[in-house]
Amino acid sequence: MKEVIKIEGGHPLEGTVRISGSKNATVALIPAAILANGPVTIVGVPNISDVSALQQILEVQKVKVIHKAEDHIIIDPSHMENVDLDHVAVTKLRASYYFMGALLGKYKSVRIRMAGGCYLGPRPIDLHLKGFEALGAHVEYDQGCYHIWAEELVGTKIYLDFASVGATINIILAAVRAKGRTTIENAAKEPEIIDVITLLNKMGARIRGAGTNVITIDGVDELWGCFHEIIPDRIEAGTFIIMAAAAGKEMTVENIIPQHLEALLSKLDEMGVDMDVKLDRVTIHGGSKLKGVDVKTQTYPGLATDLQAPLTVLLTQAEGRSRVTETIYPERFKHCYELDKMGATTEVTTPKATIFGPTKLYGVDVTATDLRCGASLVVAGLIAKGVTTIDQIYHIDRGYDNLDGKLQALGAKIWREQIED
Ligand code: EPU
Repeated sequence: MKEVIKIEGGHPLEGTVRISGSKNATVALIPAAILANGPVTIVGVPNISDVSALQQILEVQKVKVIHKAEDHIIIDPSHMENVDLDHVAVTKLRASYYFMGALLGKYKSVRIRMAGGCYLGPRPIDLHLKGFEALGAHVEYDQGCYHIWAEELVGTKIYLDFASVGATINIILAAVRAKGRTTIENAAKEPEIIDVITLLNKMGARIRGAGTNVITIDGVDELWGCFHEIIPDRIEAGTFIIMAAAAGKEMTVENIIPQHLEALLSKLDEMGVDMDVKLDRVTIHGGSKLKGVDVKTQTYPGLATDLQAPLTVLLTQAEGRSRVTETIYPERFKHCYELDKMGATTEVTTPKATIFGPTKLYGVDVTATDLRCGASLVVAGLIAKGVTTIDQIYHIDRGYDNLDGKLQALGAKIWREQIED
């Protein structure tokens, strides 16, 4: 037996949805917390399986995790041990690689299995490793495991060939307790990185330049516990805004930071979506006639690659030809093949896809090949004629907190079912 999500399309969304804490911030904040010498309280933790996997890793390391409330955890690394991380949970998500930087920073040594996560084409970690080596670490790779160690970590200047989110965070985690100053040039500027730096500075780190492409870290001897509230998830917010534009009557998406969504909101405006943007919410008035546009994913503040798949669904409903260019993960177009099964007309020639719209979508059996593909199939299911069945939904559960529950509250007909394998 396996669990699938089923959606009966054609029920308009109405009401208000509250956005959870950012997945991609959380999965870095949890490994960052182990650098403290006392309890770190984090509020706004989304209920997703990536967090459960990280918690399993913490338990292996004898880090105490207390759930104070549904979205409120205390991570207490006071009695932690630097055990080898060959637990299967490491392979469940990409972000387990943040334990490389955090454990290297704390203990000057880490043994860890290769991280997992969504397959979006090749996802090398050469920039992370080069960063560790520049700080004085040695890297060995043997049979799927990394051993990274240093006699001493010494601050230096590191230029990233690409403004990688993961490499920027991992190098920061390793450098916070290094000797002297580390400067990361061409650093990534994503809001999740600012959130991690905010936490680390509350813990006693001395990091400047968050949100710019030059980050300076002055190493400190000790980091302590603190309280931190996670920023709202801009990708979950963007997904719901797109759902509202595709299937909404009148819908409000609240607990957002509109500035984090500027590229998406201006693209939707260009398409003809009717929206009112307020301080921490956006109301979308559905039913507008949409026109096709060209979009290009870029590093922040450009359009997030994680919103490309859901946005592609909206483009299938827009008049005319739209072109999507993917500059972050050139092969991230598996959703197009699934959408074509539902009636979309897309042409993929990586790193681009052309979408011809508007096309009617029909409920069929489709597969969530990765997290954001899964989200895009939910968007498509909401507007499709008939029932859409989505397989491999563990991808969706990795990154969306109660997606089906939130949609049910907005009037969608979406449910889970156990079916024969
Ligand atoms: N890259 C390298 N070498 C490296 C690191 C990255 O060549 O050492 C390349 C990647 O192959 C990719 C590009 O640089 O082509 C961008 O990768 P980046 O390191 O910025 O991405 P990431 O840290 O692996 C995070 C998010 C992704 C999101 C990207 C881009 C987490 C856990 N993951 O991945 O989120 O797409 O940044 O914003 O934060 C998702 O949430 O669905 C997701 C995949």
